[in-house]
Amino acid sequence: MAILKIARMGHPILRARAVEVPDPTAPDVARLVSTMVETMEDADGTGLAAPQVHMPWRIVVYKVEDDRADEEEEGEGVPLTVLVNPVIEFLDEETSIGFEACLSVPGMAGPVRRHENIRVTYQTIENEEITFDAHGFHARVIQHECDHLDGILYPSRIEDMSQFGFVEELGRAQAGAADDEDG
Ligand code: NI
Repeated sequence: MAILKIARMGHPILRARAVEVPDPTAPDVARLVSTMVETMEDADGTGLAAPQVHMPWRIVVYKVEDDRADEEEEGEGVPLTVLVNPVIEFLDEETSIGFEACLSVPGMAGPVRRHENIRVTYQTIENEEITFDAHGFHARVIQHECDHLDGILYPSRIEDMSQFGFVEELGRAQAGAADDEDG
């Protein structure tokens, strides 16, 4: 069991662009992925990106619980998924606003506009290339996590800063919604 320390907003690694993983099958990558998963689960997060644990690699882990999945995904959650070198393509112009939180911005939440329909291409740790489409909340989680790989934290995407604040201070309805994405 290894729990890694999570970098918080202000740490320079969260502003840097992470580098492509040259060999997804390297033992170092497997080791990092397993400690990222343990760290995400320990922190009760939906997702985690490698820069959040001070590793500047393009790796994301996430899991969508059934009760958080949108109707677009037919209420089905998404099992633990590991994305190495993910690339996102927007499938159309449709967007929605949802509250997000982040393990690197503890205690806070705010509304972020994200694309509803995306296509993701990535490598597995077995070096297999996979492409899939994601929608709604699932797509939101992936966009949030992949932003970390480009040095972007969700507060910089908030259009209405009056709705950004501490979860404990936000209204009851918003506080519930603030659980939407926590990675
Ligand atoms: Ni995050």
